[in-house]
Amino acid sequence: MLRPRRNRRTPAIRSMVGETSLSPSDFILPMFLHEDAVDTPIASMPGVTRWSLDSLVREAGEAHALGIPAVVLFPKIDDDLKTSEAEESYNDDGLVPRAIRALKAAHPTLCVITDVALDPYNSDGHDGLVRRNLREELVILNDETVEVLCQQAVSHARAGADIVAPSDMMDGRVAAIRDALDSEDFTDVSILSYTAKYASAFYGPFRGALDSAPKDGDKKTYQMDPGNIREAVRETLLDEAEGADMLMVKPAGMYLDVIAKVRETSTLPVAAYQVSGEYLMLKSAAAGGWLDEQAIVMESLLSIKRAGASMILTYFAKQAAQWCGKTP
Ligand code: PBG
Repeated sequence: MLRPRRNRRTPAIRSMVGETSLSPSDFILPMFLHEDAVDTPIASMPGVTRWSLDSLVREAGEAHALGIPAVVLFPKIDDDLKTSEAEESYNDDGLVPRAIRALKAAHPTLCVITDVALDPYNSDGHDGLVRRNLREELVILNDETVEVLCQQAVSHARAGADIVAPSDMMDGRVAAIRDALDSEDFTDVSILSYTAKYASAFYGPFRGALDSAPKDGDKKTYQMDPGNIREAVRETLLDEAEGADMLMVKPAGMYLDVIAKVRETSTLPVAAYQVSGEYLMLKSAAAGGWLDEQAIVMESLLSIKRAGASMILTYFAKQAAQWCGKTP
């Protein structure tokens, strides 16, 4: 009789036949920051904080010391700096460029990733520039937005970003950003493209954290329909052809089939973003005492990796790094 259970008999055997494991180098820590000198706990994401510049540098250093190779920055921009043209998004003295310079000065080996999109800077709260057409309908302008995204990406590169991550889902932005970076001699700044970013209700707590929810309409004319996977293949092929260095699927946990499909379609490394709503679900179940936090967090991350992600953006990065290698 064939007995698969023999391979599960002892911890030693199980550790040898294990197919997937997690290590701190798999994680990327998303970090929120603001202009204030005090840190603010984020009500919609218990355990997550919006940091002052000083605290951001300290926290990022702690994460890096735990073996986490990279952070990605999400700024809360003061309301009086938000405009319909989002000019603050490419201000070289803006919050993000200052944070990049401070992080690189304090932690030269930390990889700094920035989010390229207009929603924190745009008075309309959309990832792109907004106009009303003749029928007074909301239109997101693709090509005009891409021009601003290019300026934003170059401004981040100039401040020292290692990787820029366009999360806006405009058409043609990867090729345009690559050209813009190359023409300013930033040929070794990488592009991590949000390739398959779905129009997901799981981003709710994040928009609360940054006060970046769209003022009007939704994001369905640029983010993808949660029912579509063939479209993810199309986006993958385009991003690869346009010169992306890495691809991202977002959200992660509910989209494991998409992670697997993107992984199979491209030879580029695949990242997955365990988003704010996923964090909140796991966190609140654990806070209620209904699920074991360490066990469910590590299982959720292991599943995302098993599906094909090489890198996972997760608000649990610091805890997970400490839990790696320890069985709950
Ligand atoms: C916007 C952006 C969003 C997230 C990352 N970048 C929100 C959105 O698209 O509305 C969501 C991350 C999360 O929910 O954790 N450019």
